[in-house]
Amino acid sequence: MSKLLYIESSPRKDRSASIEVAQSFVSAFQDANTGNQVESLDLWDATLPEFDGDRINAKYRVMHGESPTTEEALAWEEITNIVARFKNADHYLFSLPMWNFSIPYKLKHYIDLICQPGLTWSFSPETGYQGLVTGRSATLILARGGEYSSSAEAGAMDFQKSYMEMVLGFMGFQDINTVLVEPTLTDADTKGKTLAAMKEKATNIAKQL
Ligand SMILES: Cc1cc2nc3c(=O)[nH]c(=O)nc-3n(C[C@H](O)[C@H](O)[C@H](O)COP(=O)(O)O)c2cc1C
Repeated sequence: MSKLLYIESSPRKDRSASIEVAQSFVSAFQDANTGNQVESLDLWDATLPEFDGDRINAKYRVMHGESPTTEEALAWEEITNIVARFKNADHYLFSLPMWNFSIPYKLKHYIDLICQPGLTWSFSPETGYQGLVTGRSATLILARGGEYSSSAEAGAMDFQKSYMEMVLGFMGFQDINTVLVEPTLTDADTKGKTLAAMKEKATNIAKQL
């Protein structure tokens, strides 16, 4: 029995390739054990606070071990609540489109809120940077119009996969499965075959959690 946090970041809903594959994962996870729980966070439906002056000042106060002002403390409390919700899971599923070779800005906004010193990572001169979200698995469903896994030249333009794997690793994730749904901007037959194959792959990952 375990809990999955599903973070969805395509606004295209029933036309979205990443969501379609993610739904296969969620169904397989639920079928694997009747006690399994799924919490969903649709980043196009969520109201996230700006990561603005007071919050950034609060972040630097924490990093430097200083006491925050009242405003900064309130701002930091809002961040800690968002991070607490993020950390309250055993497994993570991120579904996302590639946008301009990288990730949608809604997901970047969320990552800027949760990637915080003392909450999801720490630093000390003795040990360097350490991720604090450990012992969990993450699965990435990455949809992209083009094909980036076919050559090193194309792969060098893929900041969606490299960024997500790096930033999750930075926060402590070691068990990361990545499902590439590509190319989606192609003929219907090719896209259908890709979706079927990637749904099967996602289903198999979910069954093994
Ligand atoms: C704003 C925007 C930017 C995009 N940029 C890229 C890109 O850089 N490379 C690419 O291969 N496809 C790009 N696409 C295509 C999407 O990655 C593709 O349609 C994918 O299937 C979207 O995922 P979704 O179906 O889950 O929404 C872009 C689409 C949009 C809307």
